Amino acid sequence: MNPTNQQILIKTVARLLTPPRGILAIDESMPTCNKRFEALGIPTTEENRRAYRELLITAPGIEQYISGYILFDETIFQSATDGTSFTSILSAKGIEIGIKVDGGLADLPGHPGEKITKGLEGLQERLTKYKKLGATFAKWRGVYKIGENTPSEECMKENAMLFVKYAKLCQENDIVPIVEPEVLIDGDHKIEKCYQVTARNLEIVFDELKAANIFLPGLILKTSMVIPGKDSKLAVHGMEIAQETIKCLKEKVPDIIGGIVFLSGGQKNEYVTENLNKMHLLGPLPWPLSFSYGRAIQNQTLQSWAKNPNDIAHAQRLLLKAAEKNSLASIGEYEDEKYIQNRSKDVV
Ligand code: 13P
Repeated sequence: MNPTNQQILIKTVARLLTPPRGILAIDESMPTCNKRFEALGIPTTEENRRAYRELLITAPGIEQYISGYILFDETIFQSATDGTSFTSILSAKGIEIGIKVDGGLADLPGHPGEKITKGLEGLQERLTKYKKLGATFAKWRGVYKIGENTPSEECMKENAMLFVKYAKLCQENDIVPIVEPEVLIDGDHKIEKCYQVTARNLEIVFDELKAANIFLPGLILKTSMVIPGKDSKLAVHGMEIAQETIKCLKEKVPDIIGGIVFLSGGQKNEYVTENLNKMHLLGPLPWPLSFSYGRAIQNQTLQSWAKNPNDIAHAQRLLLKAAEKNSLASIGEYEDEKYIQNRSKDVV
């Protein structure tokens, strides 16, 4: 990569991660989007997926809090009801266009229950197409399930090599790669186990990226937080999650990468906001640290739209509120409304 390519990537990273903004993931694959719709009784048609994404993309004022949207292949080609393409709506708001380019999961041969990520086939052609539509960043997700003997070293290594090939191709096309190794929340493990798995995996991922000379200032890590499994029923304070996550990231993520963003991964909406906020109270941090949530920002909006498909304005207000809270958390300035009310009662 020559210095001009590097400058393009660095500038995109800066536009994505300048506080107080974060990234909104609306790149649910067709099966995942349909599953979320079915759970709320929304018919799973292409038109409904388009209409829902239109609501998310046209929310007035969202650009104050959101620097980039990650789209799914179907979505990047779609348009609003008035015929304006989604990509031109986002560009007009100064929002970066991102695209999920992985093709979902496949079984890892010889490792029952473990997955690797598909999608390298035809990736160059797709990147060329997406770039013409204005995409400046991309996303590739690897998935790791914590079990007694998982994730295996082989699974982590295989996925890391796929991240390398994806990141290299993206950077050659002036597209910032988001590398997303997600340690799933499923299971009854303790926070210590999540720490150990996340740390080992990040070590493998960055060893491979460095060995392949991937330009780290032009790359963003999207990671899960260090948390106990959702079935562990262990009460863990948000501050412990924040401390363990930051400790793990400081140990394993090079200071020079473009930045780090979190996925919400099925944690409650409030928790991801509070956890991110607490992490900023542990600063100064070596890298920009923000969010790239899907569910935690969309949950209430989708529920509202399912109940009341004609009240777009209300659903968009909920989206804006969720984005605002996380924007505040991304600079350590979020204060929970209930907490503020209780505190002012105490003072009186
Ligand atoms: P969640 O925040 O819903 O986990 O989604 C983020 C994402 O992009 C998953 O790949």
